Amino acid sequence: MRQLIRGRTLSFHADPVEVENAFTYHEDGAIITQDGKIVAIGDYAALHEPGLPEIDHRPHLILPGFIDTHIHFPQVQVIASWGAQLLDWLNTYTFPEESRFAQQGHAPLMAEKFLDLLLQHGTTTAVAFCSVHPQSAEALFSAAEARGMAMIAGKVMMDRNAPEAVLDTPQQGYDDSKRLIEKWHGRGRQRYAITPRFAITSTPEQMRMTGQLVREHPDCHIQTHLSENRDEIAFTLSLYPQARDYLDIYETYGLLSDKLLLGHSIHLEPREIARMAETGSRAVFCPTSNLFLGSGLFDEAGLRAAGVVSGIATDVGGGTSYSMLQTLNEGYKILQLRGQKLHPFAAFHWVTRGNALALGMAERIGTLDPGSDADLVVLDSRATPAMALRMDRAETLAEELFILQILGDDRAIAQTYVAGKPMLG
Ligand code: GUN
Ligand code: ZN
Repeated sequence: MRQLIRGRTLSFHADPVEVENAFTYHEDGAIITQDGKIVAIGDYAALHEPGLPEIDHRPHLILPGFIDTHIHFPQVQVIASWGAQLLDWLNTYTFPEESRFAQQGHAPLMAEKFLDLLLQHGTTTAVAFCSVHPQSAEALFSAAEARGMAMIAGKVMMDRNAPEAVLDTPQQGYDDSKRLIEKWHGRGRQRYAITPRFAITSTPEQMRMTGQLVREHPDCHIQTHLSENRDEIAFTLSLYPQARDYLDIYETYGLLSDKLLLGHSIHLEPREIARMAETGSRAVFCPTSNLFLGSGLFDEAGLRAAGVVSGIATDVGGGTSYSMLQTLNEGYKILQLRGQKLHPFAAFHWVTRGNALALGMAERIGTLDPGSDADLVVLDSRATPAMALRMDRAETLAEELFILQILGDDRAIAQTYVAGKPMLG
């Protein structure tokens, strides 16, 4: 199917922090999609073809669909749980909730709800932790495949320091992950992420077998958590007394590479930052979660200066919103407390091409370049009365984007396209 989608198009081809003219904007723009891909982008007048079906989104903005690089699918009913920091929050709310994914029918139902929420918030690709149960990953991949969404996901491996109902064993974690990789990795748009939850919940033997999986499947991403919370770090180091620091545990078992996504990466030692830069390991900033769980303030500029590539993510259910716009809002405030600035161009680059680069997937997602998958978000900058009133005083594209970044949420998502198909309404 070939179609033309009309609106104000915005796509980044470089990082606005580093390059002056990092984006292409068409005031009366158009995107032609065919069979799920973008085949042309430019001015409407140049691309208009008699007889071609047209969808007109004017005056809205059309961007590449948002990418969320760290989210927990089994925490859709954990989000907004009161009063705890990381370790208590996991024990009190999260592990009991994740144990429910053992029940027949629960994971498929939650997978549909989860994907509905992502799309309602303009997110077209997510990197998701599932529960320990392989059927949770099965359910998420099946649901994503049915919608044509590019999902990167894995069942968590965890074999200690949690209730029995959410534990596997090193062998079971390895076998279940391997089976899921063989079934799902590279099937259509699905990709597998090898997922040791974090060092606290894996024995050295499980970490060793995780390293083996990584060596056997070098094309898979790896996702875990690093240095989110001070008590977490102290407990982790007590469990691995030989480790030089937290990152050294993951390094010892051969996990460090540009496929590794390290959620949070807040309280880092200089050696850890240097090794992340040398190995290409990615930091993932989770602003709403870091504020909600009182974890700490991510050092975006420090990591950038050291040469570490960072993604940005919601981390629902530690995070408090599915919206990448709200994530940017809270990210802006965290960087303010650090004396750093998140310019709206940098912000919108981050949730599109920046996150695609962090995943090594910018050839397929994160831009509006011809050849990309036609995953799009359509943004209404006047979605609420407060936004409309503020927009009346906006004169530049940067101002408009900042209004979306600070005031926007799911109400600003006018449409979300997955592989050229409108998914809302
Ligand atoms: N560290 C280990 N597991 C989790 C989790 O589910 N959420 C967050 N925020 N941190 C973690
Ligand atoms: Zn997380």
